[in-house]
Amino acid sequence: MWRRTAAAARPGWPGSCRSSRPSCCHCCCCCSDSGTPSSGTRRDAERRDAGRRLLLLASFMLHYFHRSFIYAFLTRGRPVPLFIVLCSAIFCSLNGFLQAHYLLHCRRLEDTWLTDAHLAAGLLVFVVGMTINIHSDHILRSLRKPGETVYRIPHGGLFELVSGANFFGEIVQWCGFAVAAGSLPAFAFFFFTVCSIGPRAYQHHRDYQRRFEDYPRCRKALVPFIL
Ligand SMILES: NC(=O)c1ccc[n+]([C@@H]2O[C@H](COP(=O)([O-])OP(=O)(O)OC[C@H]3O[C@@H](n4cnc5c(N)ncnc54)[C@H](OP(=O)(O)O)[C@@H]3O)[C@@H](O)[C@H]2O)c1
Repeated sequence: MWRRTAAAARPGWPGSCRSSRPSCCHCCCCCSDSGTPSSGTRRDAERRDAGRRLLLLASFMLHYFHRSFIYAFLTRGRPVPLFIVLCSAIFCSLNGFLQAHYLLHCRRLEDTWLTDAHLAAGLLVFVVGMTINIHSDHILRSLRKPGETVYRIPHGGLFELVSGANFFGEIVQWCGFAVAAGSLPAFAFFFFTVCSIGPRAYQHHRDYQRRFEDYPRCRKALVPFIL
């Protein structure tokens, strides 16, 4: 039996892990031995660049660690069709490889205050989004007792404002990652996340409205006060 979310994330982890492990070693070698004699200032800048890129990679991996090893074991969802599991596995593996490869081998972050401002602001948004996502998933989980499959109206946290609070959190999270990384692959991932879970939030919203007569009228589907 497959569980949807566990399956959606778990297969993606080995992909990103496999791709990043050798890349990590390569990156460390590059950082420790620059090849030509360079000034201390240049070496410091290279070290800071490597540190920034590893910080971004660590944020990305933190999400998938949580999704694979914590969320997957807590979820009480229904079984998920194998086809969806396979699609998720392919997507997560390719995306994990793309993000890790780009960060480790292609991206150079300039050693300026503007880069650090982007990084700090983006990572702050990432953490806020991740917190909303985890908290909202926790609220959904606590709506059911073990073995139950009924649907109830979620209350608390961002659910007071939107029906898809967990999806909103995830979107905010990858928006922050895209701002922090400032790369095309990161923005592409953010875009596809919106395309994939945005409509899902809308479907949930419609379903709640149909299912529950007393569903809060002021609650939006995905974006608080707007959509
Ligand atoms: N980055 C991406 O592209 C992406 C794609 C998909 C998912 N995700 C993330 O993965 C996580 C889970 O996604 P999901 O699509 O499975 O979310 P979901 O449809 O909201 O379901 C999450 C869990 O809560 C249960 N649930 C939902 N509404 C409920 C209600 N009203 N009453 C009781 N239980 C309820 C679901 O049970 P049932 O299974 O029985 O409905 C499921 O176990 C989210 O955090 C999402 O952001 C990310």
